[in-house]
Amino acid sequence: MEKTHILFVCLGNICRSPMAEGLFIHLIEQGHNASQFVVDSAGTAGFHIGSKPDSRMVETAKSHEVSLPSLARQFVQADFANFDFIIAMDESNVENIERLRPQTNTRAQVLKMRDFDEMDKGGDVPDPYYGGLNGFENVYQILLNCNNRFIDYLEKTK
Ligand code: 4NP
Repeated sequence: MEKTHILFVCLGNICRSPMAEGLFIHLIEQGHNASQFVVDSAGTAGFHIGSKPDSRMVETAKSHEVSLPSLARQFVQADFANFDFIIAMDESNVENIERLRPQTNTRAQVLKMRDFDEMDKGGDVPDPYYGGLNGFENVYQILLNCNNRFIDYLEKTK
């Protein structure tokens, strides 16, 4: 069976999208067919290329037994052809992604992470970078709920 390719995208690729990626992998490894998915994350900006995730996000993930193995990379136009789903964390990420949309070969469906949030449908996952530690826990809780709903959606539509 064809694998489903999923790319989580934020601005810097050191806080929200690495957590979304690590958490998605953590969740599908518990009872789902994890080998059916290829999962990655990227940032629309290039500030942190090659960096590990922010240490505050790593600590928050660790406290929930989630690991964040990926290094930051920048979103590129070819991602439209290489992924089935591009999941943006906020509206400005969607705008930055859409600016790179190619004329042809757009395999990917671009969605927002909070399209899967019943409590705030289509809202933004807040950027925790300039705030305190509780902002990182808040991002974790939002991503946990949205990823569970996203996995339900993938199961139903496969
Ligand atoms: P992220 O958070 O988009 O969730 O990775 C940010 C990380 C870095 C910066 C902004 C947001 N920055 O301006 O360096």
